Amino acid sequence: MSHALSFMPRPCRSLLSVPAINQRALDKVPHLDCDGVIFDLEDSVFPERKAEAREALRERLCDHTGDGKTRIIRINDLSSPFAAADLDLVLAVQPDAVLLPKVERPDDILSVQERLDAAGCPKTVAIWAMMETARGILEAGAIAATGDRAGRLQAFVIGLNDLRKQTRVPPRPGRTFLVPWLMQVVLAARAHGLCLIDSVFNDFRDADGFEAECRQGREMGFDGKMLIHPAQIEAANRAFAPAPEEIAEALAIAAAFARPEAENLNVITLDGRMIERLHLEEAEKLLALVQVLENRKTSA
Ligand code: COA
Ligand code: MG
Repeated sequence: MSHALSFMPRPCRSLLSVPAINQRALDKVPHLDCDGVIFDLEDSVFPERKAEAREALRERLCDHTGDGKTRIIRINDLSSPFAAADLDLVLAVQPDAVLLPKVERPDDILSVQERLDAAGCPKTVAIWAMMETARGILEAGAIAATGDRAGRLQAFVIGLNDLRKQTRVPPRPGRTFLVPWLMQVVLAARAHGLCLIDSVFNDFRDADGFEAECRQGREMGFDGKMLIHPAQIEAANRAFAPAPEEIAEALAIAAAFARPEAENLNVITLDGRMIERLHLEEAEKLLALVQVLENRKTSA
């Protein structure tokens, strides 16, 4: 399929967290089919081993090029004694994004942005925010707004392990009592054009439970999911990829608006249904993503 692209979306269906201390796991990364990797310096690394973890990443990521996967480094809490050295590493290796844990206020984003700007860090290094505390979720709108006017904030990542611990809402299939908070984050992210990543699913042997949660996340509007185990990659890629019927619909909408008689119309009819130009925008985005995924397949 070929479709004219006016922009290049970056797929983020599957973002695998890899503890920066785990050499065997790091060795596996080039062979995995995930859209991105979150190199973790935070919760999966014991405090006494943070320096060792940073050095492992420095060595592996210093070439600045990578293999096409989005590279994200999750640093430690800004109030921790580790954050300054973590940010020095980010400046040295210039990943696609630095992921900040436990973001609670706009200043958490702005202070890191100032540090990156002051060091002359290229704008290609984005800031991603973990939304995983009660206060962070209450402030989601104000935090998301820091991404306006060429700010570096690009994505929210939900962190349910921390949120459940703080709010004492237990894990349950369907995430019933968490859904209102998740949707609040969805709304804030979309209001400011951010990418949106759903939380990890801890029970990596439960393939059915994982698939159901992927489907739910997709329906809630998430672009992809943070993963903890390679066994989760394929299901996430499948769940968050455009479905065949969505692709067919997008192609039909693009073709309908491409007809000469639709040139000056904002609203047209397709198979007895009304479609508007806003549907065309969505269709074009979806087709662009499909093309990126197809190009990836042919070059693999
Ligand atoms: N990234 C890359 N490779 C991974 C991996 C990951 N996140 N998780 C597991 N693997 C590899 C293992 O190294 C193992 O390879 P090996 O046989 O060559 O050693 C293989 O996949 C099978 O692993 P398995 O035995 O099923 O799991 P495990 O007991 O080794 O690890 C976890 C289980 C949960 C400890 C591990 O998956 C992990 O550390 N996940 C990430 C945790 C994390 O990042 N937490 C912070 C964010 S919430
Ligand atoms: Mg956390």
